[in-house]
Amino acid sequence: MLNYSAPANLLKDRVILVTGAGDGIGKAAAKTYAQYGATIILLGKTIEKLEQVYDEIEQANGSQPAIYPMNLEGATAKDYDDMQVTLEKEFGQLDGILHNAALLGSLMPIAQFDMAHWGKIMQVNLNAPYMLTRICLPLLEKSDHASVIFTTDDVGIDGQGYWGAYAISKSACDNMMQILADEMEVNTTIRFNSINPGKVATTMRSKAYPGEDPTGLPKPDDIMNSYLYLMGEDSQSVNGQIINAQSS
Ligand SMILES: NC(=O)c1ccc[n+]([C@@H]2O[C@H](COP(=O)([O-])OP(=O)(O)OC[C@H]3O[C@@H](n4cnc5c(N)ncnc54)[C@H](OP(=O)(O)O)[C@@H]3O)[C@@H](O)[C@H]2O)c1
Repeated sequence: MLNYSAPANLLKDRVILVTGAGDGIGKAAAKTYAQYGATIILLGKTIEKLEQVYDEIEQANGSQPAIYPMNLEGATAKDYDDMQVTLEKEFGQLDGILHNAALLGSLMPIAQFDMAHWGKIMQVNLNAPYMLTRICLPLLEKSDHASVIFTTDDVGIDGQGYWGAYAISKSACDNMMQILADEMEVNTTIRFNSINPGKVATTMRSKAYPGEDPTGLPKPDDIMNSYLYLMGEDSQSVNGQIINAQSS
């Protein structure tokens, strides 16, 4: 799958929601999915960044995307209900979600975490993917084969000191992914998997490793094969898995 070569029309006429689409891996995924034919709903918190991605997709002759500004940290149940109504009205169905947005927070011992900081990270990294998935299920069920992708991290798979709420939120999302995969396997065609991007040169990576020279790191565009594979029909039999986007 790391060497997966996607057909040019892999995502033709598919409607895909990407969270955190304004920067880093989410931006690369939104543009890549659009390049392969999808209509992308660009969700994120900084409108200028989303507009930039919108323009880049249009300039590359991709299908016209949609911008859905949303700060996942403060989003309420009503915001999600409103979103469901809007997506239903504008698109009628959903063929995929890439849960990519995340907040790293401060790296520190659990003993020093305060409730507010903990809650903020859990809100963006765990509660938001839960709410978003739940309200989108009826739209995903209308697709002939929908794919929901969560984004994990090495530290979510094997806990490591100082990674605190971020790591725990990733681990919990993987568990949610497995529960959904199990529950939906029988009566729906929706599949649920996680991608572990590995080390990638982004803003988040430089926040986590401020002393690291990013020049040797893979860029978001370099890891898109598994993002394409998991979103498209060639992975229809893959469900409940954690997939690495890089070999090491
Ligand atoms: N880079 C790596 O080495 C690495 C390794 C393992 C896992 N990951 C995972 O890969 C995913 C993408 O990370 P990245 O490295 O591309 O990070 P990034 O460049 O920092 O991008 C994170 C994205 O999430 C959005 N976001 C953050 N808080 C948000 C909020 N409250 N509401 C809406 N959107 C919000 C950001 O929007 P703004 O730009 O508007 O703030 C940004 O678009 C994350 O899930 C991360 O945990 C990354």
